[in-house]
Amino acid sequence: MRKEEDDTVRRPWVVGVSGASGTPYAASVIRALLAAGEAVDLVVSRAARLTILDETGISFRDAHWRADLAAWLGGDSGRAEAGLENVRYWAAGDFAAGPSSGSYPAKGMLVVPATTGAVAGIALGLSKDLLQRAAAVTLKERRPLVVCVREAPLDGVTLRHLVELDSAGAVVLPASPGFYAGGSTAQELVDFVAGRVLDAVKVPHTLYRRWAGELGAARSAEGA
Ligand SMILES: Cc1cc2nc3c(=O)[nH]c(=O)nc-3n(C[C@H](O)[C@H](O)[C@H](O)COP(=O)(O)O)c2cc1C
Repeated sequence: MRKEEDDTVRRPWVVGVSGASGTPYAASVIRALLAAGEAVDLVVSRAARLTILDETGISFRDAHWRADLAAWLGGDSGRAEAGLENVRYWAAGDFAAGPSSGSYPAKGMLVVPATTGAVAGIALGLSKDLLQRAAAVTLKERRPLVVCVREAPLDGVTLRHLVELDSAGAVVLPASPGFYAGGSTAQELVDFVAGRVLDAVKVPHTLYRRWAGELGAARSAEGA
């Protein structure tokens, strides 16, 4: 049997975190993938270190990624770190990393959140860092790619790049929560977007309440 056909081969989702506001979306997606028993290969762009620092107070370091990721995902560090055995981390400048090659057995890639810069780089095939290279590889291998763009307002340049990504087969999923699921806290709205990201790649989750065809159902469930 060839190695690729072996069920015991680890097949991760590559999660690319770029430097847009919205690092809680990434944390929610990573937590939900791990909860679903999926393996995760994590790439954090250089700019994302600034947004993680700004939005969580955590300095994300390559050399201490496990402890920093545990702190970011929450929980007391000892227990949270123990839950990270399904995560592999690759430095953003490491073009020799697994996800840099199409022969690396990734299931696909989720860019959460995606900057307009990452959108442009992926649409144009720039591969300026590992995140963009891994996304290019995902497209060329015809694997699922979800791009969770976060910017407002959007200009024509980015809109054109998003159309390019859609044409190339990516799912363009704006970080734009819906309110029909009854979410009232910021975390619930974050989880709604994260849930839609997982929906796009058919990974099961319980991140939000699905529409069941009845107006007002979420509000009446809240009151119950
Ligand atoms: C605090 C902070 C918030 C930012 N928010 C956004 C954003 O929401 N969307 C965006 O496209 N860029 C945002 N940027 C700018 C990007 O980080 C910048 O364009 C960077 O070059 C993107 O690089 P990357 O795509 O390699 O992560 C933000 C930067 C900082 C420091």
